[in-house]
Amino acid sequence: MRKITIIALSLLFATTLFAQKKTKTPLYKDSKQPIEKRVNDLISRMTLEEKVLQLNQLTLGRNDNANNMADPVNDIPAGIGSLIYFSSNPDLRNQVQKKAMEHSRLGIPILFGYDVIHGYRTMYPISLAQACSWNPKLVEEACSVAAQEARMSGVDWTFSPMIDVARDARWGRVSEGYGEDPYTNSVFCVASVKGYQGDDLSNPKKIAACLKHYIGYGASEAGRDYVYTEISRQTLWDTYMPPYQAGVEAGVATLMSSFNDINGTPGTANQYILREILKERWQHDGFVVSDWGAIQQLRSQGVAADKKEAAFKAFTAGVEMDMMNDCYNKHLAELVEEGKVPQALVDDAVKRILRLKFRLGLFETPYTPASTEKERFLLPQSLQIAEQLAEESIVMLKNEGSTLPLTNISKIAVVGPMAKSNWHLLGSWRAQGKSDDAVTLFAGLENEFKNKVQLSYAQGCNFDGEDRSGFESVLTLAKGADAVIVCLGEKAQWSGENASRSTLSLPQIQEDLVAELKKAGKPIILLLSSGRPLELVRLEKQSDAMLQIWQPGIAGGNPIAGILSGRINPSGKLSITFPYSTGQIPIYYNHRQSARPHQGKYQDIPSTPLYEFGHGLSYTTFEYSDITLSADKINRGDKLIAEVTVKNTGDMDGAETVHWFVRDPVSTISRPIKELKFFDKLMIRKGETKVFRFEIDPIRDLGFVDGEGKRFLESGEYWVMVKDKKVSLTIN
Ligand code: NOJ
Repeated sequence: MRKITIIALSLLFATTLFAQKKTKTPLYKDSKQPIEKRVNDLISRMTLEEKVLQLNQLTLGRNDNANNMADPVNDIPAGIGSLIYFSSNPDLRNQVQKKAMEHSRLGIPILFGYDVIHGYRTMYPISLAQACSWNPKLVEEACSVAAQEARMSGVDWTFSPMIDVARDARWGRVSEGYGEDPYTNSVFCVASVKGYQGDDLSNPKKIAACLKHYIGYGASEAGRDYVYTEISRQTLWDTYMPPYQAGVEAGVATLMSSFNDINGTPGTANQYILREILKERWQHDGFVVSDWGAIQQLRSQGVAADKKEAAFKAFTAGVEMDMMNDCYNKHLAELVEEGKVPQALVDDAVKRILRLKFRLGLFETPYTPASTEKERFLLPQSLQIAEQLAEESIVMLKNEGSTLPLTNISKIAVVGPMAKSNWHLLGSWRAQGKSDDAVTLFAGLENEFKNKVQLSYAQGCNFDGEDRSGFESVLTLAKGADAVIVCLGEKAQWSGENASRSTLSLPQIQEDLVAELKKAGKPIILLLSSGRPLELVRLEKQSDAMLQIWQPGIAGGNPIAGILSGRINPSGKLSITFPYSTGQIPIYYNHRQSARPHQGKYQDIPSTPLYEFGHGLSYTTFEYSDITLSADKINRGDKLIAEVTVKNTGDMDGAETVHWFVRDPVSTISRPIKELKFFDKLMIRKGETKVFRFEIDPIRDLGFVDGEGKRFLESGEYWVMVKDKKVSLTIN
């Protein structure tokens, strides 16, 4: 009898426990439920304080970002929404995540973000250089590697890509975007979003992306950082919006609001772009994070009296996450209690953040599995992509008398401040990149020419300053060589955030070094590393060949030396105009026509750039046919095929990029003299011919948007252009 009672009691206890467990396992923890249901369930359980905490981002680990410093946060609340993660392995993340999972009331995982801009540990060329490859597939692969390295190290979310169209290269951040053209930025934006995110964010090798800086940051006055921008609605929609629209359509998870003041309303308090366009018109269901300190900076911009007003303006405009402002944290709950901010708006904001956490699978897999550095970094395939991307992004600007490739040469003098630096080759935003991973230009040359050519080296001068004491010895070195390779450029810290320059020239000392070397009478080859286009008008005259190598990342000297030896045929083309002089700024290919095209020129310099958008030489020659069209008169709904045949007429295999431009010569509103609408890069073996094809969708490719983003297609004549070839067609 006693036995039976015990069994009965145990059964009752077990059933009660089971029933309790059943009712107590909240729906949001059930991975089988649809994400929206889980989000709604979770939010229904949250207090206002818990919600507000989700809308804040602090930092974790040693901050390596000199422009955005803050004291380490010691007491991170378990319920915090997000952290910028400065550590390079998952341990610290996992510790803090454990606190969130086990000590916060609802066990909401933290979202860890970081600036993974052109690689995490395997550093790729800077984005401006990547665009010169005209190879979005390769850029997608590079971003995919960055995602894998980052996620396996404890990062769920990158603040990348930067897709700010930039036409003033004095602005240091021109290095971080894909150049001056809206279409180019759109294509590489989509490639990088796909590379980072893939099609399933819960994949342990993918991360969420963030389009930045929304919007118009690249229009900074006089190339200064963080300043006012004057952007008409027409220019906003013609120039700055297209990459963002493309990124949103590609499914980007988040966006970052911009620092700049846009016509009187800073990006971080801008209802029109954040709420009206992004959330209402484009129906983006992710969230917007402020840039670092951008909410509290609304005070210095003169649109908020204090942090509370700043919180109110940014939040109601549509910035959901506060990155290091201490504004939402301190004032949002109070604003809700005072009835100034509707509870529903807070719920909407929190839902957007939770949605991403669910999509990333953080509720199921909050911790990053342990792995060795060897398992996650610098994998052979990653290095191969780094090498190929660097190779394809190098632009041969000049090659007088076929100076390059260097054949029949036995002695090369290697000179200049960039020759033995690996640090500067990585550029700004190097995440966990290490300069020791990067192959210097000199080491690359050694690898390439080993046992074949005798290399000698002398630095000659520093990057800047007045010390010319090394000039004499470099001249002697040059006299004894068959060719002189001069490695010049910008220090890494001369571009990137908060790194504007008043001129695109290299410091005088570097120009003087070349003038000195010229006295040796030997071929001069310049290797130019920079984070922006340079003013090369004087250096161009002193040199026989010039390679724009940008900041090539860890592959550094290897692909460059491969081009110099002729092992690699250069295929990069400029994604940004190189002005004749700094005084031409802003200069970009897709400008409007002047009222008097034959007049209005500069009196003192040419009015054309030194190297135009799309310029880039090859060791082979390509012959273009005329453009053919499948029809020269079509109805607005019809599609049209344009083709051009390109023959490799030289004696080396080579890749060629064909840029397809269009123009609407007469329109209701003036249109640019040409606009890039498509590009394609194909390898063409010597003697071979390839057909390049552009499928024209008239509304998309020939139409235009007005100042509200509404698209029109007018009847009449249009031009399709490739290089110096042009055909016209008519839309009925
Ligand atoms: C400020 C920069 O403007 C932004 O691009 C970056 O992502 C954040 N700081 C976070 O480091």
